[in-house]
Amino acid sequence: METTRLETPPDPSKIMQIGMGFFASKTLLSAVELGVFEILGAGPLTGQTLRNRLGLHERGAADFLDALVALGLLRRDRDGPGAHYANTPDTAAFLDPASPLYLGGILKMANNRLYRQWSSLTEALHTGRPQSEVTQRGDGDTFAALYADPRRLAEFLEAMAAVQQANFIALADRFDFDRFTTICDAGGASGALSIAIARRHISATCISYDLPAVTDLARKRIAAAGLGERITARSGNFLTEDLPHADVITMGNILHDWGTEIKEQLIRKAYAALPEGGAFIAIENIIDDARRQNAAGLLMSLNMLIETPEGYDYTFAQFNGWCRSAGFTSTEIIPLAGSASAAIAWKSR
Ligand SMILES: C[S@@+](CC[C@H](N)C(=O)[O-])C[C@H]1O[C@@H](n2cnc3c(N)ncnc32)[C@H](O)[C@@H]1O
Repeated sequence: METTRLETPPDPSKIMQIGMGFFASKTLLSAVELGVFEILGAGPLTGQTLRNRLGLHERGAADFLDALVALGLLRRDRDGPGAHYANTPDTAAFLDPASPLYLGGILKMANNRLYRQWSSLTEALHTGRPQSEVTQRGDGDTFAALYADPRRLAEFLEAMAAVQQANFIALADRFDFDRFTTICDAGGASGALSIAIARRHISATCISYDLPAVTDLARKRIAAAGLGERITARSGNFLTEDLPHADVITMGNILHDWGTEIKEQLIRKAYAALPEGGAFIAIENIIDDARRQNAAGLLMSLNMLIETPEGYDYTFAQFNGWCRSAGFTSTEIIPLAGSASAAIAWKSR
């Protein structure tokens, strides 16, 4: 007997949405660059006033602002010249620099660096070579290249804190740091993870360990959080030195910066710095083992191709293999915010 096959007709909408997604992406990035959400933080404005404040030519201004409305990134109360534009609850919370939840730092860096660098993705795919500032240097030192300009350094640290904030808060909530006394966040940047842990766990003492270029900014941020007594910003180089001893060693978006050899070296250094019963925690966009689902993790890995000479993101199975080779006896994974997870390795538990 013949069966009727019900086939879904092909649908171009996903292809077009992804393929032309940079229209919407760049509209948002320009809005952040221009300060649209910051200006509207003080209250709604008419299109004319907003245009004047932003210094926009009249030709694109209405389309730009109304595109933001249609994308759900601004509200507009009426139609026509008397209408007022305002932030949505989400843009007020996350894109107004006056908000404690501000995460515009990552979008500023996306606008100023990544957007342009990603236009050379095809070149990176052909050559395997990065397309970032490090390309100009002979020594392949990603962070020296990035930090050569103090403004770029400050922007990078803002971006890192923005992108990881929700993950750090989730980790401080979901991992029982109360069982431990000392935590060392290796590659701690401006101290955001140490701050999240110290706020949530009043007995924790943290070391935020990073390159000397970062130490002053970290100290300022830690002092501004009122946690100078419990968090030390320590300068060091985890490629050339041992890690400080601590009950828990964390690394947020560190392993993905490096090739396999340095990844394994850093995991061995974490093992050596921990006591029996200690934990090593990597906070990253851990890719699902079948490499089919975590698109954000796979795209982040392509971002590492663009940004670094050898870096790549990895699966939990890979993490488990590296950690067990280093001597860790068990591993587990805790989902954090969005596409990120905490991959945890225990030293004899
Ligand atoms: C991708 S950022 C991640 C920052 C932060 N852990 C997070 O999750 O947002 C990498 C960090 O590693 C630091 N780093 C790079 N090379 C380092 C080294 N050799 N020793 C210590 N820290 C280093 C950088 O300065 C930067 O803060």
